[in-house]
Amino acid sequence: MSELYSFGMIGLGTMGNNMVLNMSDHGYSVAGYDKNPAQVAELNKLDTHDNIEAFDDIKAFVASIKVPRTILLLVPAGHIVDAVIEELKPLLQKEDTIIDCGNSHFVDTQLRIDTLAKEGFHFMGLGVSGGETGARFGPSIMPGGDKTAYARISDMLAAVSAKVNGEPCTAYIGTGAAGHYVKMVHNGIEYALMQLISESYHLLKVHGGFTNEELNAVFTDWNKGKLQSFLIEITSAIFLQPDESGKGMLIDNILDTAHQKGTGAWMSQDAMKIQSPIPAIDAAVTQRILSSMKQDRVVAARFFAKDNHIEKAANKETLANDIENALYTAFIITYSQGLAMLQQASATYNYGIDVATVASIWRGGCIIRAAILKEITTAYQNNADLKNLMLSPEFSDTLKTGEPTLRRVIQKGLQYAIPMPSFSACLNYFDSYFSEWLPANLIQAQRDFFGAHTYERADKDGIFHTNWSQTIY
Ligand code: 6PG
Repeated sequence: MSELYSFGMIGLGTMGNNMVLNMSDHGYSVAGYDKNPAQVAELNKLDTHDNIEAFDDIKAFVASIKVPRTILLLVPAGHIVDAVIEELKPLLQKEDTIIDCGNSHFVDTQLRIDTLAKEGFHFMGLGVSGGETGARFGPSIMPGGDKTAYARISDMLAAVSAKVNGEPCTAYIGTGAAGHYVKMVHNGIEYALMQLISESYHLLKVHGGFTNEELNAVFTDWNKGKLQSFLIEITSAIFLQPDESGKGMLIDNILDTAHQKGTGAWMSQDAMKIQSPIPAIDAAVTQRILSSMKQDRVVAARFFAKDNHIEKAANKETLANDIENALYTAFIITYSQGLAMLQQASATYNYGIDVATVASIWRGGCIIRAAILKEITTAYQNNADLKNLMLSPEFSDTLKTGEPTLRRVIQKGLQYAIPMPSFSACLNYFDSYFSEWLPANLIQAQRDFFGAHTYERADKDGIFHTNWSQTIY
């Protein structure tokens, strides 16, 4: 192609490669660059797309893009992003734009925005969700920050994103690092939903005695109802995947240690910082860490032998129905936590995020896409100031009927020593949020007793300290 390319893409791994092809399918010409010659060759050998070209020379790559340039990055988060920016900068002109489409930490993104703005460049953080298939055929895209840069890419993003009822699953999210913040929250919710599904699997398998075939049938059935979602759908498929290199189904031969790249933990860390409770997500992160302590667990299991007699469920269908209702209730509570945190973060960091918009662009393309997001979008559209999704008329009745089942399902797990950390965290959050009184008065008394930290009173205004009558050394 002799004309200059409309966009540049750095990082031609699976995600970058697929995104380039997606852009090309929608008529956008793209120059690609990767340090790895194999990935460059891979893209160049395609004879199906004549509006793309991959380069192994960064100077030639930059020179092939229309000015002012818009260069997207799909490289691993962290120092590699900085290294690529440093390599690019001397080759760029003022007003060129760099768009980081990876899972960068929002604090890093804000730093890069500030630094590059001083140098005359535009920089945006943009969240992309949907894995490899999403990148190729339509992800959910969460752009935030620089509006000049956004204006250059908004049509392209709308074209390549997933569509729900013809509406693109992308929209301007907010100022600064809002795009990466929202992607982090997406991932935290993803962790909790996955954890809740795996706790359901544990109970169904161990107490319910469900076989893989039966689990497939249960999840397939759930996916036709209120739990309809990408994660439920892939879970049903997982149970029927045969093991090509072993016996039986693959699921039974996968080591029970969950890995993570950090986005869920980042959300927990920031939740503590901005004081927004997200216990279902915290529990999911913690449980991944506990699962990774396999060697310790193997040794410990011998020390504290549990009563291995787990009574089988009297009626499998009743158990599956109960878990379906409990899971749906826990899904609502998880989204409530994540979205309440997003509201708080938006106020703390002045992002100007509209939660209804976020929920609506998560309806398609992303990993947490689910039928429930349609109602969540409506709930926030009907009340932009909604403090917590659990208070919305759209969900309050469902929560009222779901709560006793959630409690019953957790009790079953606890009775048989089946860990239910995210389910329990959801119920504890629900019980605490809807409690007029919590025993925090005692914590205040203890703080004042040992450290003169003072307390407030329930019956009058002011700050108080007591000389507690007993001294304990
Ligand atoms: C997505 C995913 C993706 C994430 C993976 C793995 O939205 O497409 O969130 O961005 O990287 O899910 O995350 P962990 O390795 O932390 O599980």
